[in-house]
Amino acid sequence: MSAGDLEGFKLWPGRLDRAAQEALAAEVFTLAKRAPFFIPRMPKSGAPMSVRMTNLGPLGWVTDKEQGYRYQAFHPETRAPWPDMPTAVRALWDELTGYAAPPEACLVNLYGGEARMGLHGDGDEEAWDAPVLSISLGDTAVFRIGGVLRSDPTRSVRLASGDVCMLGGAARRAYHGVDRILPGTSRLLPKGGRLNLTLRRVTPP
Ligand code: SIN
Ligand code: FE2
Repeated sequence: MSAGDLEGFKLWPGRLDRAAQEALAAEVFTLAKRAPFFIPRMPKSGAPMSVRMTNLGPLGWVTDKEQGYRYQAFHPETRAPWPDMPTAVRALWDELTGYAAPPEACLVNLYGGEARMGLHGDGDEEAWDAPVLSISLGDTAVFRIGGVLRSDPTRSVRLASGDVCMLGGAARRAYHGVDRILPGTSRLLPKGGRLNLTLRRVTPP
């Protein structure tokens, strides 16, 4: 089996047109003034990740040295509730996932030129039946997706600005990561780099 054949991995190339990408990126950066990007740190070691993160919606994914990976309703530094999710991403969730309940978390990952994300599975959610929906904006990412075991074969998929992909079904538990981003492949973000929005249902409806 090649990893891309994993049941439940879907890619909609160019699902958002340029105008929709611009509007969404601008809205996210505006909301991030209230919920500033923070440096996520690995559990136990406290080593910083290379991406910067913030969240939108009732719950947000955070990680730090002391408490590790978790969802919480407030920003780790300001302690304020996360801003609401843009209506456009909620509508996209309804349309593409068909899931019966709205997403609770929109994790916003900001990748500079050197940022990457190691191979991992998304496993901090209790609503296992809900897919994860991922929206890419800005520079192209070299995304890697494998199977449900870390040792399974992987395949590389380029995610360009406006692409939307879904990890549902068997792919919901698939290992995935970002090998690197390709600087200069998009002019969407004023300072370059890549924004990735991942929408998740955390609690069973
Ligand atoms: C993630 O797995 O949280 C991010 C994936 C991506 O940036 O495309
Ligand atoms: Fe992930």
